[in-house]
Amino acid sequence: MSDRDDLRELASQLRRASSVMRAAEETKLAGGERPRKVAKSDFAPTAKPHLESLRPYSPGKPAAEVERELGLTDVLKLASNENALGMSPLARAALESALEDSSIYPDTHCRQLVDEIARRNGLGPECVMFGNGAVELIYYLAQCFLAAGDEVVTSGTSFSAYTIASRIQDAVVRAAPLDGAGLDLGAMSRLVNEHTKLVFIANPNNPTGTILGVDELEAFARTLPEQVVLVLDEAYYDFVDDPRYRGSVSFVLEGWNVVVLRSLSKSLGLAGLRIGYAMARSDIIRTMRQVQVPFHVNVLAQRAALAGLDDDEHIARTLQLIREGKEYLYAALAAAGLQFTASETNFIWVDTGVDAARLFDEMMRGGVIVRPGTGFGAPRHIRVTIGLPEQNRRFMQVLLASITRVKP
Ligand SMILES: Cc1ncc(COP(=O)(O)O)c(C=O)c1O
Repeated sequence: MSDRDDLRELASQLRRASSVMRAAEETKLAGGERPRKVAKSDFAPTAKPHLESLRPYSPGKPAAEVERELGLTDVLKLASNENALGMSPLARAALESALEDSSIYPDTHCRQLVDEIARRNGLGPECVMFGNGAVELIYYLAQCFLAAGDEVVTSGTSFSAYTIASRIQDAVVRAAPLDGAGLDLGAMSRLVNEHTKLVFIANPNNPTGTILGVDELEAFARTLPEQVVLVLDEAYYDFVDDPRYRGSVSFVLEGWNVVVLRSLSKSLGLAGLRIGYAMARSDIIRTMRQVQVPFHVNVLAQRAALAGLDDDEHIARTLQLIREGKEYLYAALAAAGLQFTASETNFIWVDTGVDAARLFDEMMRGGVIVRPGTGFGAPRHIRVTIGLPEQNRRFMQVLLASITRVKP
């Protein structure tokens, strides 16, 4: 064979090999296998790109994990504003029989609860919706009202779920600074423009514990363009002591573009069961129902909440505990020369005067977990949940010892 024949034979072998490879590839695809790409980072290459830079919610470590990691026992977590008295006894009693029914799906519309909350607030049931914690309803609101590039206004020192839920929808979040320790409605108002779709206000505010009056809120609501839905998050509504605070259901009754959120995690001690609700005009609630996850509020949560709503005694005991806790902690913090913000909630926002991230670590080693202000843009603050009297005393001891250790 000539050289030319050799070359021809080689070329034809190559053609056959490549057609065999192509056929093999096609067979794989037809069989449902996808060609695999090697991921360049630990973020799925075909996911929505804006999700990569998102900072997911950080709940802090559970006490048991800290105990394991640091070889401690009896770690005290005062970082998530749970009810120090635990669950309402009426709610707990209802759980026994609810367990029986937990093999069937829950009522997806939470009808009994919706009717009860509607009745208590003078609303129609079409104006109430329950959620897997108030936080789920925040995510629903973001899903319903925000498209990429829409804008959201909130405070830079407030509940982080507003920002996270909005960023998931690729919305732009504009955050106003505080005015002292309180929310600055003037600054928020200046951030609103024709692209703004949602405004989130926590009232009382987490982490500062401050409140806004209905009159101030109404003046603010009047400045909002028509396309804006104002979300008034009253997760800590039951804890407010100030008699001038009335909550914001009046906005819903009057037909404003307002959603009021409440949580049963704190007041009824149901944080682990997850349940909260929204009250709004019927068109807003109907819109939110369009994105509702089926059966999102479980059987136990629904039954415990229904029973717990009647537990006035548990709420009264909780409020008394918070009042006494505040009295002790305010005096102890003041005696230590520490600044704090008077709170209308079950937590206190404390200016420790030192680096809060280091203080948080040091306190954790001392067996007490608090929430550092760093995540709220406040590098010297911590937020502490008011606990039982002995827990409050332990918090103060560990706080003061830890401050001494981290002081420059
Ligand atoms: C202001 C605020 N809103 C909503 C929530 C969430 O409440 P839930 O436990 O009902 O989801 C919290 C929880 O800490 C909160 O601080």
